Amino acid sequence: MKKKRVLSGIQPSGKLHLGNLIGAVENWVRLQEKYECYFFIADLHALTSGYADTKEFRNNLHDVTVNLLSSGLDPEKAVIFRQSDLPEHSELHLLFSMITPISWLERVPTYKDKINELKDRDLYTYGFLGYPVLQAADILIYKADLVPVGRDQLPHLELTREIARRFNHFYGPVFPEPKEDLTEVPVLPGLDGRKMSKTYGNTIDLCDSAETVDKKVGQMVTDPARVKKDDPGHPDVCPVYAYHKIFNKDRVSQVARDCSGAKIGCVQCKKELAKVLNDYLVPIRKRRKEFIDKPGHIQKILEDGAERAKKIARPTLAQAKKAMGITY
Ligand code: TRP
Ligand code: SF4
Repeated sequence: MKKKRVLSGIQPSGKLHLGNLIGAVENWVRLQEKYECYFFIADLHALTSGYADTKEFRNNLHDVTVNLLSSGLDPEKAVIFRQSDLPEHSELHLLFSMITPISWLERVPTYKDKINELKDRDLYTYGFLGYPVLQAADILIYKADLVPVGRDQLPHLELTREIARRFNHFYGPVFPEPKEDLTEVPVLPGLDGRKMSKTYGNTIDLCDSAETVDKKVGQMVTDPARVKKDDPGHPDVCPVYAYHKIFNKDRVSQVARDCSGAKIGCVQCKKELAKVLNDYLVPIRKRRKEFIDKPGHIQKILEDGAERAKKIARPTLAQAKKAMGITY
């Protein structure tokens, strides 16, 4: 049986943190073992909200690529590329923009949410409204079967299917409807207990040194009701415990008993967590060093990836143009 085709993208917003890793990238690393995978860095999507200040774009692209590779994405197993290296995505986006009603885009929940969230930016642009149209082009140009995404992306998947149906309705069957592969992961809290996010400055980053991890874990908030060591703790409200659940599975129930029985103090509990996180990051740091020492290597990987992606993207675009009646 033919392997299913998987496609997903990530915006290059610089450093990757542990939340990104367990949210998306770990899942990609698993998928590359089983499926025909296309993973790309969505630099054009980053422009839709970051157009006013692009100084860091080049660095961010490089950092994200290094991070993906050091987290275990393997160019031998998956096609890894940069969106803007394939003008085919942009061209299909333009073609889709002809048939996408504005009302569909205005009612995508992420549209108003992001505008409210990023109040300091002017997101009343044509490009930003079209964000999900570009995403539909990313997905449909590979005729992907499965798209691993988090829950927040489901409306974009739904819109992708609607665009595919509308295209097929006008011009004949070209695009299959993709399915989501919902990545259900517990939301990793940040150091302050809010959601881990770059915007809040509460992240643990993949490139943090062991000392930085020790320090950051030391600063984490804990159960606020636990003032003294012999106060029983409530692990379920403690961010440190949320990490034990994900990264210290073997010992997590013992940690819970020790905490609620006031048998360990928070300092000791955090020491154990820092150790576990550092063990987890050791292979990632090792691979990172290998990539950093070979700068030309990253560009080569992306160029190879783009070439392989084109083998699928180009014929799909030709097929779409033919169906639309704009070829000779
Ligand atoms: N919008 C996605 C996000 O912010 C990134 C993305 C762009 C994407 N194109 C995609 C994800 C295509 C899946 C498929 O996470
Ligand atoms: Fe949190 Fe650990 Fe302290 Fe319990 S002992 S409150 S789990 S840091």
